[in-house]
Amino acid sequence: MSCFKIIGGKRLSGEIEVCAAKNSALVLLAASLLVQGEVIIHKLPDIVDISYMLKILEALGSKVKFDGRTVVLDNTDIISYEPHKEYSKKLRSSIFLLGALLGRQKKAVMVYPGGCEIGLRPIDLHLNGLKKLGVDVLERGGYIYCDSTLATSGSVHLDIPSVGATENLILASVLIDGVTEINNAAKEPEVVSLADFLNAAGAKVYGAGTSIVRIEGVKKLSGVEITPIPDRIIAGTYMIAAAITNGDLLVKNCDPKHLIAVSDKLASSCDISVYEHSVRVKGYSRPNSIDLIKTMPYPAFPTDLQAPIMALQTISKGNSVIIENMFETRFKQVNELLKMGANIIVNDRAAFVIGREKLIGCEVKAEDLRGGASLVLAGLRAEGVTTVTDVLHIDRGYFRLDKELNSVGADITRVE
Ligand code: UD1
Repeated sequence: MSCFKIIGGKRLSGEIEVCAAKNSALVLLAASLLVQGEVIIHKLPDIVDISYMLKILEALGSKVKFDGRTVVLDNTDIISYEPHKEYSKKLRSSIFLLGALLGRQKKAVMVYPGGCEIGLRPIDLHLNGLKKLGVDVLERGGYIYCDSTLATSGSVHLDIPSVGATENLILASVLIDGVTEINNAAKEPEVVSLADFLNAAGAKVYGAGTSIVRIEGVKKLSGVEITPIPDRIIAGTYMIAAAITNGDLLVKNCDPKHLIAVSDKLASSCDISVYEHSVRVKGYSRPNSIDLIKTMPYPAFPTDLQAPIMALQTISKGNSVIIENMFETRFKQVNELLKMGANIIVNDRAAFVIGREKLIGCEVKAEDLRGGASLVLAGLRAEGVTTVTDVLHIDRGYFRLDKELNSVGADITRVE
């Protein structure tokens, strides 16, 4: 299993580019099943979750040509409604195949999705929403059996503005006759990106990015070419990398509007200049602490940056309270940061971080994707060598994080 050896204390500076968002690309790949015709998606991040999704699509009958950046999909001959079991179990986004297959094949048989173990991650909102639209749903023996032959348009209220449930319900309803309304929908940019993709293919999805999404069913979707939105979580990670290393980074190809909550919080720790498609972050030798960070649905502070920003707080001047409202067990990085000399007290969903002057490198383990990224950030700052093991978790969401950070001055060696 690979690990990163990080020699800490290097100041990052220069320009770093953000790639397309995995959480947008993955749902667009699933959505391609609804399209009669060629689907071209540019700038796909060449990460393992994308390769699993492409393998699942291939097994369903999709003709896939992927050169590591652009994928061309021809879904004329979809022959199955049962996504590959083993690959589906490896990623959370396999759940999007449910809505897409119900639209395309009127049937789906799926195992429960996988992904990071950061809490319970139920799918009740997805399934209850589908039932509301008349989809027959049966959960038995670890499988979900769905049939949408009798599905009709209607109104669905989500108890929580779940990103995945909103996306799945949009996918399931674009080809259903009549008007479907999703109330208390998630407003994340990835939902907007999905609506843009579907609308470019001929769908009628209105209100994405607000709490009411209205879908007017259409008969068919046709060929489409698109680039997913830039990855706001990778952009945020790079911004924090600049702040934690007293660096000076121009984070290019991001959408600063997607990063307002992050920039707002970081503004007390470093200097931030916002441009049209980039953000410049200049750190201080020791950043000021951020008093309170609460993760909430977009446009509030994202749960996916909770672990990375915690790394920054460990070396800040002052104390910080971090409240994780989205997932129950998303503080897995804490034990590892403690080994590096951080001072953090966790009580249920709140972490109290007492800023220390320094961190000391040691061996730490990436337990999940964003927690792993936070350990890399801590390693960039720490004295001596930090070894981050189990980087497969990090590779699931960051394309060659080591190489990207090295290009702006980090010293990270990947050891196989
Ligand atoms: C997506 C992102 C993930 C991010 C999260 C929150 C993808 C592939 N993943 O995950 O990186 O951390 O949004 O921004 O896009 N919930 C239920 N029942 C459900 C669904 C969700 O109770 O059926 C709860 C969850 O436990 C969680 C909250 O709703 O507490 C939000 O989850 P959700 O927005 O659905 O996250 P994901 O779509 O899984």
